Amino acid sequence: MIKMKSGRRMLAAALTCLAATAGYSQTTEPAAAPAAAAPVSWSTFSGWKRYHGNCATCHGPDGMGGTFAPSLVNSLKAIDQDKFMDTVVNGKANAQLAMPSFGADPNVMCYIEDIYGYLKARSDGALPRGRPANPPAKPKDFADAEAACMGV
Ligand code: HEC
Repeated sequence: MIKMKSGRRMLAAALTCLAATAGYSQTTEPAAAPAAAAPVSWSTFSGWKRYHGNCATCHGPDGMGGTFAPSLVNSLKAIDQDKFMDTVVNGKANAQLAMPSFGADPNVMCYIEDIYGYLKARSDGALPRGRPANPPAKPKDFADAEAACMGV
């Protein structure tokens, strides 16, 4: 049963592949190579990483919203950075669902500006979904500030 299911999935994948190849062969010119994605700053990459480590379980991948919590891509069109910070530090709860307070969690607070910057870029449409391409090496001043904040 399980075998059959995965067999069907493989077949579907193969057919999708074939369809894509067929589509490609109809073009007269070879398709241009996709432009290399613009590199992001370390801070944006760090925000992506920390968001997915601490927030995405509830707020969904790429800030898109989940079963438990609203889309922060949408929220950031309405709330400013102060309101964002206040919510993350102190939490927020309506009758059914609760946004935990992260004010005492260094894994969030040491990176909160990165998380905000990442989500703001997503909200403004400046950053597509997915893992940001071409992150730079971690800059030394960032590593130093991180160590100081994390107390290591
Ligand atoms: C356990 C689930 C959970 C986690 C983890 C979580 N949140 Fe939330 N968050 C919520 C819920 C639920 C709400 C909606 C609360 C309400 O409206 O009363 C919310 C609301 C918010 C809001 C307010 C949105 C608005 O429109 O007012 C912000 C900002 C926010 N979360 C940021 C974050 C960030 C940043 C992280 C990660 C550091 C995070 N949340 C992690 C559940 C979570």
